[in-house]
Amino acid sequence: MESVIITGGTGLIGTALTRLLLERGYKVTILTRRPENGSNKAVSYAHWNVDTQTIDKAAIQEADYIIHLAGANVADKRWTAARKQEIVDSRTKSSELLFTALQTIPNKVKKVISASATGYYGEFKDHAFTETDPAYTDFLGTTTKAWEDSISKVTTLNKKLVIFRTGIVLSRDGGAIKEFYKPLRFGFATVLGSGEQFVPWIHIHDIVRLYFNAIVNDKLEGVYNAVSPNPVTNRELIHSMGRIAKGGSFMTTYVPTFALKIALGEMSIEVLKSVKASASKIQQTGFQFSYPTIDEAMEQLFSR
Ligand SMILES: NC(=O)c1ccc[n+]([C@@H]2O[C@H](COP(=O)([O-])OP(=O)(O)OC[C@H]3O[C@@H](n4cnc5c(N)ncnc54)[C@H](OP(=O)(O)O)[C@@H]3O)[C@@H](O)[C@H]2O)c1
Repeated sequence: MESVIITGGTGLIGTALTRLLLERGYKVTILTRRPENGSNKAVSYAHWNVDTQTIDKAAIQEADYIIHLAGANVADKRWTAARKQEIVDSRTKSSELLFTALQTIPNKVKKVISASATGYYGEFKDHAFTETDPAYTDFLGTTTKAWEDSISKVTTLNKKLVIFRTGIVLSRDGGAIKEFYKPLRFGFATVLGSGEQFVPWIHIHDIVRLYFNAIVNDKLEGVYNAVSPNPVTNRELIHSMGRIAKGGSFMTTYVPTFALKIALGEMSIEVLKSVKASASKIQQTGFQFSYPTIDEAMEQLFSR
């Protein structure tokens, strides 16, 4: 039985990915700051501490694959200087801890598969960003670049590496959809800013299938945009949710840009920046999205 470590496996993507890996017969070990809180009896929980750079040795010795998802949530809290530091450190220092562990602990890890984000890219102008476009110079751009650089060091240890530059993950269990849906429960489809900004998105089933694919497809290596091939604007996304979740009976309201900037501070860029990323590279590997259009994704999310 092959063994997979998932760092930050207690989160939104990790929970869904754990389910799939267990179904497919893998042993799953979640590296977490609090193994005592682990609730899934089918999973092993192992401790690590990014601040003190300590990690469970046995977990590293046993692993065939490492999936690196850990990182302080970018949308949970206002971006104070301290929070920004935590967002960066939780990613780069955790990558460094994995690198040191792989360098110093005898292991048979074949591949490391790491999250990154489409926050890597700048504002959409005339083309959908491809994987060779440079990182943007804002906070998310420099953070994702530092994150990717820090995990890329594992290739010097002869480990294969896959990085998924992930768009907004659509799930009923958390993340953006949970927030977008709140006003819709009361009949308001709330569009952010002008609503014309492009949202790079991916359905939770597809991002989980991509991670799984990176394990089973030996040839998959390098950086891939993990976004659906059909980007939509924020208004199109909210209206699709309204049509499908509410049968079309909703009223559109707008939260003006200035109000978002006051409420969210610098973090407002997360919802206001227009980013279009291309799915071509991952599609060329033969990967087929289960939910390629926003309506198909919303149908699946709201038909349970
Ligand atoms: N969800 C999205 O829309 C999306 C989009 C683009 C990229 N991503 C990236 O994909 C990864 C997984 O996303 P997700 O939505 O599953 O994230 P999530 O639900 O926020 O979970 C991330 C996990 O990281 C661990 N973590 C949090 N703060 C940490 C810290 N300061 N130091 C070390 N570990 C920490 C936590 O595990 P423990 O508490 O168990 O230690 C947490 O369960 C993240 O790196 C995220 O940035 C997500």
